[in-house]
Amino acid sequence: MKRIGVLTSGGDAPGMNAAIRAVVRMGIYSSVEVVGIRRGYLGMIEEDLIPLGVGSVADIIHRGGTILHTARSDEFMTEEGRQRALHNVRKQGIEGLIVIGGNGSFAGAKALADMGFPTIGIPGTIDNDIPGTDFTIGFDTAVNTVIDAINKIRDTATSHERIFVLEVMGRHSGQIALMAGLAGGAESLIIPEETMTVRKVTDKIKRGFQRGKKHNIVLVAEGAGSALAVSREIEKILGLETRVTILGHIQRGGTPTAFDRALASRLGGRAVELLLAGASGRMVGMVGCQIRDSDLGFALSQKTTIDLEVYRLANILSM
Ligand code: F6P
Repeated sequence: MKRIGVLTSGGDAPGMNAAIRAVVRMGIYSSVEVVGIRRGYLGMIEEDLIPLGVGSVADIIHRGGTILHTARSDEFMTEEGRQRALHNVRKQGIEGLIVIGGNGSFAGAKALADMGFPTIGIPGTIDNDIPGTDFTIGFDTAVNTVIDAINKIRDTATSHERIFVLEVMGRHSGQIALMAGLAGGAESLIIPEETMTVRKVTDKIKRGFQRGKKHNIVLVAEGAGSALAVSREIEKILGLETRVTILGHIQRGGTPTAFDRALASRLGGRAVELLLAGASGRMVGMVGCQIRDSDLGFALSQKTTIDLEVYRLANILSM
């Protein structure tokens, strides 16, 4: 291969830029030209391409977002759209592709690989919901953002002896809530993977207040429901005021943590090596501190599960 493309797709995640940098520099090191495709698959269709040299990825390892931008493309969902996209990149001499993104992006990557175009996926999403890797790029930064919010909310919650309900991201996944809950000491976790009734939450709140606890923080993963609905139910059961904070897209931005930068750099480097070695339809991931690759079809057909031991521990420790 003499020229490869790289794109970011779906929701952005802190660390995507570090992954782009790694792809570009490993490509250059391996005597391959790297072309950035802007705005995800839409950029393939609209031929929104930019050559990426050593200098064009300087000064981005610490920046959130993605310098290549990201978008959703309905046209790429169709066979016709994908044919057009492929025709465009082939016309530019691009012989292989690296896709940085989440589940939806990987469906596109697999479709391209199935059409005979060498494609490798790098998992980038704050949700940490991709099988085949212990961590996705951006998850650690998002968890740290939530921890920061919990710390601040706890100050005011303690001052007022109040109950706070915090809604965190995770479209179908409670991973952010679980890890932030454990590390932030939230009293209750409501996540899609486990059943938790509001009655159990209020019982714990009551026990806490009786023991002299000054604050109560309930974390709700958006995939499990709405913080507003939970707070209304808590108020109804306990007859106490609550406050709600929906963290939203704050979790998607910010400077990536050292962990996310290192992960992105390792995954980016390996993705290029794999592509140049002739692999396609694969995804790179980190499993038990090692970089491994797996079938994109596996990532798409399976669902991640949460570690029930961690869930149990978080609940015990926040007694
Ligand atoms: O998949 C990442 C994610 O941030 C989810 O946690 C969230 O549900 C979704 O993207 C939000 O997407 P959008 O930016 O399109 O509103």
